Amino acid sequence: MKEVRSPSTLFLPKPVALVSTAHDGRDNVMTAAWVSVVCMEPPQVAVAIRESRFSFELLQASGEFVVNLPSQDLWRAVDLCGVVSGRDQDKFALAGLTRERPSEVGAPLVAECPLNIECRVSALLPLGSHTLFVGLVLAVHLERDCLGEEGRILVDEFRPYVLNQREYWSMGKKLGRYGSTAAELEVIP
Ligand SMILES: Cc1cc2nc3c(=O)[nH]c(=O)nc-3n(C[C@H](O)[C@H](O)[C@H](O)COP(=O)(O)O)c2cc1C
Repeated sequence: MKEVRSPSTLFLPKPVALVSTAHDGRDNVMTAAWVSVVCMEPPQVAVAIRESRFSFELLQASGEFVVNLPSQDLWRAVDLCGVVSGRDQDKFALAGLTRERPSEVGAPLVAECPLNIECRVSALLPLGSHTLFVGLVLAVHLERDCLGEEGRILVDEFRPYVLNQREYWSMGKKLGRYGSTAAELEVIP
């Protein structure tokens, strides 16, 4: 038996990221969970940001951003960057995060995050409370310690985590491989 609820987005689990931005000598880092892959070719990701954020200002002015994916060990620092604004203080210093030199954009990478995706805005879509910034991926940085055979990410080393209904959850165990059910049933010729 299911319960019908009023319209809400709260129930979808989401990865937690840090979005870094820079413009005109200022930089910033903010927590964002409304982040997703939106296109494979050319590779693009999107992040939904409220106009009131300082990050919105920097992102709109520069047209560039970096999606930094933290491991679960960083969750407290990441949580802090999601409740304090960088408008009046340096959140890198506050949260104990380190700036790392990017290769393609002006915004710094967050050194502590095992994955950094440098992006240039390719589309912008005002939706209501949030504006969707779509970013063309220009460069991807991956921590070598998190890489296994054939460059695959070792989830046990990386340990990304998700936000669900205002709580942070780790990812648990591997269930299986993409497409394995169809392969076992031999339904694809
Ligand atoms: C877990 C978490 C996820 C968040 N996700 C988003 C998001 O996707 N978009 C957004 O606009 N704000 C999001 N926020 C809120 C901003 O991170 C927060 O308002 C932050 O202080 C803005 O910083 P800034 O003013 O330095 O840009 C999130 C906060 C938390 C704690």
